[in-house]
Amino acid sequence: MLLRASPAFSLLANNGGETNSLSSANSVSNSLSFSSVRFSSPAKNPNNGGFSVSAAAPETNSRPLTGVIFEPFEEVKKELSMVPTVPQASLARQKYADDCESAINEQINVEYNVSYVYHAMYAYFDRDNVALKGLAKFFKESSEEEREHAEKLMEYQNKRGGKVKLQSILMPLSEFDHEEKGDALHAMELALSLEKLVNEKLLNLHQVAEKNNDVQLQEYIEGEFLNEQVEAIKKISEYVAQLRRIGKGHGVWHFDQTLLHEGDAAAA
Ligand SMILES: [Fe+2]
Ligand SMILES: [Fe+2]
Repeated sequence: MLLRASPAFSLLANNGGETNSLSSANSVSNSLSFSSVRFSSPAKNPNNGGFSVSAAAPETNSRPLTGVIFEPFEEVKKELSMVPTVPQASLARQKYADDCESAINEQINVEYNVSYVYHAMYAYFDRDNVALKGLAKFFKESSEEEREHAEKLMEYQNKRGGKVKLQSILMPLSEFDHEEKGDALHAMELALSLEKLVNEKLLNLHQVAEKNNDVQLQEYIEGEFLNEQVEAIKKISEYVAQLRRIGKGHGVWHFDQTLLHEGDAAAA
């Protein structure tokens, strides 16, 4: 251990004077503060020419100083000896568990798979004999969004010094018609289930981070993914509810027009 105990805190000044006494409010734990500082005259302090300011004996439960001196050049020696020298190893990697690295790669694969399914839905609704342009637009944007999520996780993997390993993506369905529900409701219910599944996978990833005491990864998943995921589930749930009301006919065309022109007013 490279830490060394220091003597009690003291500070000297040369402008002698009367005895003063300062007291701060109760010191807050973890912050550096004086519980009591006393100024004393030279007469009372024969050991030095000025007056001294010293921290009075701390109260039992609120020690303002630990008595430990941080010696950066001594302590950094250990870190310095651990800087990788082989070109294959990341220089930035620190307290990033292998489990977290694998879990991020798995999540990248989940996002890509969902992106692929949404892309298939886009292609289906864009067909000339289906022609639901609003749904095509919605699923195209959703597909791009999921791919962006995958890329964001790739950037994160590199940031922490992990290695991105891409895995296979499964072939999605290409037909989305359903005898009772029709295609729009069927596809939207599928999208809702996928978003819930992604949410579950993100929560699993968060658990892996928690198990490995990776506070930064936990915070990243919470801030960048979990909120957005819950918003997406709410939005798609509303679309499913609306599609259930309107059946398979003219209502679907109207719903599709709403999706097609969503955001037009804001853009104009
Ligand atoms: Fe996503
Ligand atoms: Fe999503």
